[in-house]
Amino acid sequence: MLCYMLREFFMKVIICENYGEMSRKAAQVFIDQLKEKPDSVLGFATGSTPVGMYQELIKAYNRGGVDFQETTSFNLDEYYPIASENNQSYYYFMHEQLFNHIDIQIENVHIPDGETRDVEKFCLEYEEAIRQAGGIDLQVLGIGRNGHIAFNEPGSSFDSRTRVVDLDQDTIEANSRFFKNISEVPRQAITMGLATIMECKKIVILANGKSKAEAVAKAVEGEATEEVPASTLQRHGDVMFVLEKEAASKLKSIG
Ligand code: PGA
Repeated sequence: MLCYMLREFFMKVIICENYGEMSRKAAQVFIDQLKEKPDSVLGFATGSTPVGMYQELIKAYNRGGVDFQETTSFNLDEYYPIASENNQSYYYFMHEQLFNHIDIQIENVHIPDGETRDVEKFCLEYEEAIRQAGGIDLQVLGIGRNGHIAFNEPGSSFDSRTRVVDLDQDTIEANSRFFKNISEVPRQAITMGLATIMECKKIVILANGKSKAEAVAKAVEGEATEEVPASTLQRHGDVMFVLEKEAASKLKSIG
C-alpha cells in the first residue's frame, strides 16, 4: 500500500472567538505547565498580543490558582541600545505588565541587557544562562505582520542564535505606535535566534487581528522558508498556535 505524508509535522491550531478567549486559553497553558512543574523555565514575550494573557496570569495568581516562586524566566528580546528605565524598554514593559504583580523572584528573571557594552559577549552569556537553567520549558511568542518571531526578521537564518539585529522597516513602523515619533524607535535589538527558540521544549504562539492573518497563514500552511521566520516552527514537535478568529481568517484549512 502506498502511503503519503500530508504534513511532515503537526502543529496544533486553536481558533478563539475573540482576544479575551485567546488570552485565557494561553494563560491556561502556562498555569497547567506550572501545576505540573512549579520550577519551570518560562519564556516571555512583549508586544500588545500577550498583555491579556499576562492579565489572566495575574488574576489567577491573585486567586491563588498559580504561583511563580520557583520559576525562572527568559525574555525573547530587547531593543538595543536602550536604558532599562526607559518606558519603552522591554525590561520596563515586563515589570509593568507582569513581574511587579506576581511572586517571581527577580533574581530568576532574565531579559537581554539593552545597556550592555560588550554585546557579543552578552549574547553568548545569555545562551549559556538558558542552557544552565536546563532550557526553556514553555515559551510564548507573538508574530509580526512580516512573519517575524522575537526580532528575527525575514531572512534570519534558521540556525541563528542570540545576537544583535537590525530591525526591519516594517517592524520600526509597526512599533512606532508606542513612541512619540518614528525617529525614536531604536534601529537594533538583541534577540534570541530561531535556533534558540526551536530548542524551547514547548511553544505557544499567539496572534490577534486581521493584520496578522497573512503571516499566520504563511507560517502554518506555507513552505518553511527563512523569508517567513515563524515557518521554522513547522519543524518543531510541540507548537500550539492560539489564534483570535480574524488572525486565523486566511488559513485555507478553515476556509
Ligand atoms: P504585537 O507584536 O504583539 O505588538 O503585535 C508582535 C510581534 O511583533 O512579535
